[in-house]
Amino acid sequence: MTISVCEDKEQLAQKAANLFLQIAQRAIEERGRFVAALSGGSTPERTYTLLAQPERATQLDWNKVYLFFGDERFVPHDDPRSNYHMVKQAMLDALPLPAGHVLAVRTDLPTPEAAAEHYEQMLLAFFALPDRQTLPRFDLVFLGLGDDCHTASLFPSAAALTERKRLVVATPPGTLPPPVDRITFTFPLINAARQVVFLVAGSNKAKTLYRALVERPPIWLCPAVGIRPADGELLWLVDKEAASLLPPE
Ligand code: 6PG
Repeated sequence: MTISVCEDKEQLAQKAANLFLQIAQRAIEERGRFVAALSGGSTPERTYTLLAQPERATQLDWNKVYLFFGDERFVPHDDPRSNYHMVKQAMLDALPLPAGHVLAVRTDLPTPEAAAEHYEQMLLAFFALPDRQTLPRFDLVFLGLGDDCHTASLFPSAAALTERKRLVVATPPGTLPPPVDRITFTFPLINAARQVVFLVAGSNKAKTLYRALVERPPIWLCPAVGIRPADGELLWLVDKEAASLLPPE
């Protein structure tokens, strides 16, 4: 695990956007395509905006890029609480991504469970896997850290934390807003990724970051502790304010 401390939120967003490009270029060179899972929340929004700006956007062959969502709120895609909506506004509208390369969670299905099941089937079909025995490997998974130590939509005490077989599950609202059902990647799927990157910024995250990285409570209390890529890299990209309680290196 690596912790990289940035000067401020802006530097964090720039580093994250540059890292996205580097990982994407390497994946395309090595495997012919780049498959990423994006996170919601407010922190990555600036990173997405920077990726859509011409100086960065023109560095990548977007025909070879596929974007999934590590979690989603069970609200329509045009709802401001939707992660898809945020990413669309911040970057998708400005990028030359071919149709079918943005694999959003279907929130127009009758229930969050149906949406989770459908997303899992979509993932298996995309990665051409017959069943869940072999885990899909994302080239990059972006994650955030909630004030209650949740990540993706893996909330403290939720049943989703103990899921070992399913790749995607529905989960009831956590204690933090917005109070809507969620669809989330599970630990096995996230931990199979080649690279997982947490983006954490702001002084309001300092205590939680200390808990997740130093105190390391049990997973049911602090789900972020459960992110341990089995055969991949884990990077915490944080800003100085969020890192203010961490011991000096
Ligand atoms: C969501 C998320 C969630 C988020 C954290 C951090 O849909 O809510 O994906 O896990 O990343 O809550 O959010 P902030 O970046 O807004 O602090």
